[in-house]
Amino acid sequence: MSDRLILKLGGSVITDKSADCAINRDQLVSIARAIARARTDGIVIIHGAGSCGHPEAKRYHLDVGVVTGQNEGIYVTHRAVSRLNEEVVATLRGQGVAAIGVHPLHTAIADNGRLVNFECRHLETMLDLGMVPVIHGDVVMDLSKGACIVSGDQLVRYLAVGLGIRRVGLATDVPGVLDEGGVVSEITRDTIPTLRIGNSMHTDVTGGMRGKINELLELADAGIGSDIFHVSRVADFLAGAAHGGTTVRGNTA
Ligand code: IPE
Repeated sequence: MSDRLILKLGGSVITDKSADCAINRDQLVSIARAIARARTDGIVIIHGAGSCGHPEAKRYHLDVGVVTGQNEGIYVTHRAVSRLNEEVVATLRGQGVAAIGVHPLHTAIADNGRLVNFECRHLETMLDLGMVPVIHGDVVMDLSKGACIVSGDQLVRYLAVGLGIRRVGLATDVPGVLDEGGVVSEITRDTIPTLRIGNSMHTDVTGGMRGKINELLELADAGIGSDIFHVSRVADFLAGAAHGGTTVRGNTA
């Protein structure tokens, strides 16, 4: 149980963010191979949307919520990211990993943009059965705003706590968190004001690198450290080896 881990795959590593829902299949196959070689159980995979969901969420202004009669964006955005999820699951299964897609739209509820409930018992059971749940940033129903976007990073924070997971890794298209001096090897709430971290240049309704770090600092507050590294270092992270990226820790850790 304590050996379980979450691996988050950023939308920009599994899609081409400058095109319309262009899935990066070669990258997906390399990741699936690295996972299959390292371990095929005790893993929860969470992925972002990249160009399969962000443009749709933006087009329908899902960041400000949804009112009665203007719900088309919920369907369109969910369909885009579900298509990506299906591809991630199929690629993992093609390498012998018992992956199964889980959609937050069906199992989560948010309030004012923040997840307030995500059923974890079925995930526990899937893990017990040796399966690999593959969850994704999604549009979910929101008690205040009708609907909202819940990012993969928000899911990482919620599910790491809910599933009692101690190791969290985020594979990205950069070697780690970058400031003017290069890769920042460690981040805590104390060091964050001293860093100059840019925002993602692409269409991103969930806050780019800043949004990611905020979620990970909340996780660190709950006693769970996390690692951000380049996607080419997935195997190193899974092996518990040095990955050349950034570790986010609590102040007292
Ligand atoms: C966004 O998820 C989900 C939708 C827009 C439907 P993320 O915010 O985790 O996606 P990436 O990793 O930034 O692409």
